[in-house]
Amino acid sequence: MSKTILITGGAGFIGSHVVRLFVNKYPQYTIVNGDALTYAGNLENLTDVQQAPNYIFEKIDITNEKGMDELVSKWAFDAVIHLAAESHVDRSIVDPLAFVRTNVLGTAVLLNTCRKHWGGDYAGKLFYHVSTDEVYGSLGEEGFFTETTPYDPRSPYSASKASSDHFVMAYYHTYHMPVVMSNCSNNYGSHHFPEKLIPLMINNIKNSRPLPVYGKGENVRDWLWVEDHARAIDTIFHKGVAGEKYNIGGFNEWKNIDLVHLLCNIMDRKLDREPGTSARLIEYVKDRAGHDLRYAIDATKINRELGWNPSLQFEEGLEKTVDWYLNNEGWVEDVTSGNYQKYYEDQYVRR
Ligand code: NAD
Ligand code: TYD
Repeated sequence: MSKTILITGGAGFIGSHVVRLFVNKYPQYTIVNGDALTYAGNLENLTDVQQAPNYIFEKIDITNEKGMDELVSKWAFDAVIHLAAESHVDRSIVDPLAFVRTNVLGTAVLLNTCRKHWGGDYAGKLFYHVSTDEVYGSLGEEGFFTETTPYDPRSPYSASKASSDHFVMAYYHTYHMPVVMSNCSNNYGSHHFPEKLIPLMINNIKNSRPLPVYGKGENVRDWLWVEDHARAIDTIFHKGVAGEKYNIGGFNEWKNIDLVHLLCNIMDRKLDREPGTSARLIEYVKDRAGHDLRYAIDATKINRELGWNPSLQFEEGLEKTVDWYLNNEGWVEDVTSGNYQKYYEDQYVRR
């Protein structure tokens, strides 16, 4: 069946993997990538699908009510997969209001625009909201987040995502808008902006720069291969039940310091360095304010009800990720120099 789908934030890390998967797997769908191209949005992430006949890019800011109204009038979307967000906890500590604007206001504008255009006729319609496990707060040594864990966000980032989740559920209950939501653990893989732990460490190891480990490095994160997240989104989009939320995770917990050591070992081998060379770059630095100790997802529901499972073991995924960064030095160079921001103008404005 043909559909027109708006994917917001499609030029970002996870969004670009979701766009690629949908464009390639569903030629009968028209995929409109709507993205404001903030510092985190990079159209070079999508050069391989840019010419596909079922792919369209629209530069839009989800907080702009008028712009969103025009976009939705133009395309009459059947569905939205909403990934656009400010996504970095450290930035949210420095500038919390940017997170309120995009994550809270932007999500509300998007929901309301869909409500207005769908006009209560929700046949064949779906609003899919992509969220994070960070809304559940911080775990101690034991236990897992399930779909019924009470929300307890503790950073401006997670508070803004929690708020957006509440708006999505409010539109389900109040207006009967068909919505689904997923809350995923930390992703890793190609095209990840090098301000987040794994790509930052890979880049610094390669350039023999210090490896800043926050606090004692004992915080735990549950890591999932980004393409497995994209597959989970595909599964939930097609099989999820309206009004339900699904946790997505890899049952793959790592202490930050152990993960950094693993990366150092992989990089020493790939760069032909003496074993132990990269680990000497580790520096313990001031801890992040309000640093959540541990995240761990119980992904039983999506497995049992929708049949989704992660496909890749972590060590294999990390090897692939390191290889991608080593083989795509131009991408890293463009991202770290800011050159990638010219790409939109070259491809879409000057032509
Ligand atoms: P990202 O920061 O790499 O990309 C965000 C994208 O959103 C960028 O392309 C950016 O240009 C766009 N954007 C930002 N503000 C916008 C606005 N006002 N209007 C339109 N576009 C805007 O983020 P990511 O890591 O790919 O995360 C995508 C989504 O997945 C987010 O909603 C995030 O909360 C969620 N999530 C991320 C992770 C993770 O580990 N990265 C884990 C779970 C959930
Ligand atoms: P990050 O990739 O920012 O994801 P999140 O905070 O959303 O989990 O950070 C992952 C973990 O790594 C987190 O515990 C903070 C830590 N960290 C460092 O120790 N050093 C760094 O330079 C960064 C960016 C993160």
